[in-house]
Amino acid sequence: MNTTQKRTQVAIIGAGPSGLLLGALLHRAGIDNVILERQSPEYVLSRIRAGILEQVSVDLLHEAGVGQGVTLGGTVHNSIELVFANKRHPIDVTGLTNGKVVTAYGQTEVTKDLMDHRSSQGLETIYEAKDVALHNFDSTQPSITYTLGETTHTLQADFIAGCDGFHGVSRASVPKGAVQEYEKVYPFGWLGILADVPPVSPHAIIYANSERGFALCSMRSMTRSRYYVQCPIDDKVSDWSDDRFWTELKSRLDPELASRIVTGPSIEKSIAPLRSFVAEPMRFGRLFLAGDAAHIVPPTGAKGLNLAATDVKYLSSAFIEYFKEQSSAGIDHYSARCLKRIWRAERFSWWLTSLMHRFPDTAGFGQKVQEAELDYLVHSEALSKSLSENYVGLPLDFAE
Ligand code: APR
Ligand code: PHB
Repeated sequence: MNTTQKRTQVAIIGAGPSGLLLGALLHRAGIDNVILERQSPEYVLSRIRAGILEQVSVDLLHEAGVGQGVTLGGTVHNSIELVFANKRHPIDVTGLTNGKVVTAYGQTEVTKDLMDHRSSQGLETIYEAKDVALHNFDSTQPSITYTLGETTHTLQADFIAGCDGFHGVSRASVPKGAVQEYEKVYPFGWLGILADVPPVSPHAIIYANSERGFALCSMRSMTRSRYYVQCPIDDKVSDWSDDRFWTELKSRLDPELASRIVTGPSIEKSIAPLRSFVAEPMRFGRLFLAGDAAHIVPPTGAKGLNLAATDVKYLSSAFIEYFKEQSSAGIDHYSARCLKRIWRAERFSWWLTSLMHRFPDTAGFGQKVQEAELDYLVHSEALSKSLSENYVGLPLDFAE
């Protein structure tokens, strides 16, 4: 077997949105970085995930030099709608948050913009890197080994950023006793479809609570829609023909809205489990976790990508402080700073999930209590404001 060695300042594991955004922000600050990714670029781009960006995330894309895509292709939303007991209730998110908005722009598009930017800048991303292993991150000389074909490579770095998602190798490399994990798994999944049909609601995401379970109407563009229905956790995609999906979706919406849904063949269909998860701390010597490697939220509040973006903002600032100002303050505060924001988003995502879904063990009574809470929410300015300010996201410096 052949071997090679090289060195960088920050070795990033994972070329999802976290790793790519971190790489772009570091590059802009003149900090050298290499990304190692287990999959191929095509595989990474085939994963369809949520698509709502907080303003903080949009600003970060601009800061990283990749804001053009969201400016041209994003759709600004000023409100959301809640459907329950067969009626729709708009929430004026912008009016309730002094003018804040969210932007519909798919995670796949964000990833593609970041990938294109990275290759246009000639930055190194090593795709299909196998057997990635982390070494000596509790010392000042961490390194990573990986194989490509018959060759084993060693990458030495000042720091390792574990941006490799929930199933990645980074968190798994930390000794068990050094990490505390908090987890809640929900007893259902989301079946999502993507279809090239105009969205039923082009300016507001619709969240529906119904006796048949939760449903969500979202979009990717004026000609591409994304819809979800809550489904049993062990259902298979093959159990759901397109016809069955559309019928079920309509049955969970109010009749007027249902009548306006434009149906069409799905171009993607998948089932995702719902989970809340946090690993603490997010720093282990010279290894830092960011994004899904450290935390998962159920998608109900659309916080996953936004939390990943803010972790990465804090982490890039910390590395910039370290390399440019010879200060360890940022890296020392990284974990606590992120976790404060993460737990706020965990609470919000758990609360909205609990409010909107049908839970197998609390059927009749649970449904009535949810409807009473939703009725209170839409008629109370205080509660609508609380929902709105969490939905648009906290400012970056909220905890300082
Ligand atoms: N070696 C190299 N790369 C790996 C390894 C490994 N052992 N394990 C995982 N990866 C890669 C995955 O293939 C994936 O491309 O790490 C990347 C992690 O990307 P994501 O799972 O998208 O995680 P992240 O970048 O943190 O993005 C967070 O994704 O799941 C959503 O809701 C979440 O929107 C949020 C966003
Ligand atoms: C999506 O567009 O995929 C989406 C939107 C809002 C959510 C979750 C997913 O809360």
